[in-house]
Amino acid sequence: MKLRFDYNNMMEDAIGKEGVKPSAFVKNAARIAAARKSVLDNRGKGWQEWCELPFAPADEIDELIAYCGGIGKKAESFVVLGIGGSALGPLSVASSLLHLRHNELPKEKRKAPKLYVEDNIDPERMASLLDVLDLKTAYFNVITKSGETSETLSQFLILYSALKEELGLEEAKKHIIVTTTIGKGTLYDVAVAEGFKVYGVGKGVGGRFSVLSPVGLVAFAALGLDVKAMLAGAAAQAQAAEEQDVLKNPALLTAFLQVEAMGKGKNISVLMPYADSLKYMADFYCQLWAESLGKATDLNGKTVHVGQTPAKSLGVTDQHSQVQLYTEGPFDKVVTFLAVDEFRTTVVISDDKSVDACDFLKGRTLNELINAERRATEFALKKADRMNYTIYLPEVTEETVGELLMYFMYQTAFAGALLNIDTFNQPGVEEGKKATFAMLGRGGYEAKLQEVNAAVHKKEYIIG
Ligand code: PA5
Repeated sequence: MKLRFDYNNMMEDAIGKEGVKPSAFVKNAARIAAARKSVLDNRGKGWQEWCELPFAPADEIDELIAYCGGIGKKAESFVVLGIGGSALGPLSVASSLLHLRHNELPKEKRKAPKLYVEDNIDPERMASLLDVLDLKTAYFNVITKSGETSETLSQFLILYSALKEELGLEEAKKHIIVTTTIGKGTLYDVAVAEGFKVYGVGKGVGGRFSVLSPVGLVAFAALGLDVKAMLAGAAAQAQAAEEQDVLKNPALLTAFLQVEAMGKGKNISVLMPYADSLKYMADFYCQLWAESLGKATDLNGKTVHVGQTPAKSLGVTDQHSQVQLYTEGPFDKVVTFLAVDEFRTTVVISDDKSVDACDFLKGRTLNELINAERRATEFALKKADRMNYTIYLPEVTEETVGELLMYFMYQTAFAGALLNIDTFNQPGVEEGKKATFAMLGRGGYEAKLQEVNAAVHKKEYIIG
């Protein structure tokens, strides 16, 4: 395991009564052990197929790297069409590992296709994509686990038509890779009928737990990222999650601390990376934490309405917009910092003798400054008795990013088990999907349409 976890500022020793007593680990030992066991016993079963993704058969991974890597070499642009769990994995990981201005680099420096992750159906966004793409050299990965999501299907229909018009039917087909559940859903049927290349998402791999399946790996291979190193990093964290001693198991430990924090009224979980490369990791985390833990009932059917609202923040940028609230507002947050020991580059602040000011900055590096500011924020939060902990990445590489992803997924699974809820369903999301089908007149949703239309919108509560 390459990541390090500093949870000092979650504890009573550091922040007094707002923190967790060290004795809580002993007092809750049986509960923690049961949560650990229930997650570990279900690895590879039901909705926990994601646990096995780092250990996928080598021949499957080799084929994916060879095929998608080949597409990446031909492509000028690689476009991911998907939403939620079918977009945030590719987006967060690729943003972590590619040059921060990847799409703007000249081709010879970029060495991989431009990447577009299209996770919305704003008509202006689609029109603007068509304005910048050269369809002759653009390749598309259409991702939907269910194969039924309206947003992704509509994007596919628009772009497949555009491709056919530009390239003709046979060439257009070669520009599409589909990632979906094999044998199920509208997109799978279309893919078979049209003869697209298809990669499968395991039946027991939910969207927000799918980043290490072909949902993420197809794009990573096309972009020339080291897929095997990423899976190796994830495997290291899967091993760490097996550790019996909670104090040596970071995912279990921090899941427990977060659940304890919820019990103390900390209903907001802020993820604050101090690195632009990790900015979209906060989006990945927010979906994982929100959809997995925000549940109305527990496993015994009792109404619980649990969950912790995740929020994203970027260091140092949001020090100048949100940290005031974090230090002095309600005691309702846990802040998780992501820290990077070694950035991929060093920028020295010039020692400009002609400027007679700022001596404390001259000759230092931005690397020193960003980490000093992170430690300063951590200190300010601690001083104000605010719960926070820090996850250190020695550097941002495929291996450490793979570890981080697996850590987040195990932490979420352990937290769900501690809360005694179904971590892996999302009835709230499904409801919206069904209402959309109904409003667009899809067959079989007539009763849902009546229900939607019966929802009251009183005129007296509408302005304008
Ligand atoms: O995590 C989830 O299950 C959801 O966010 C889904 O990923 C999202 O709704 C997209 O679903 P699908 O991949 O079936 O298109």
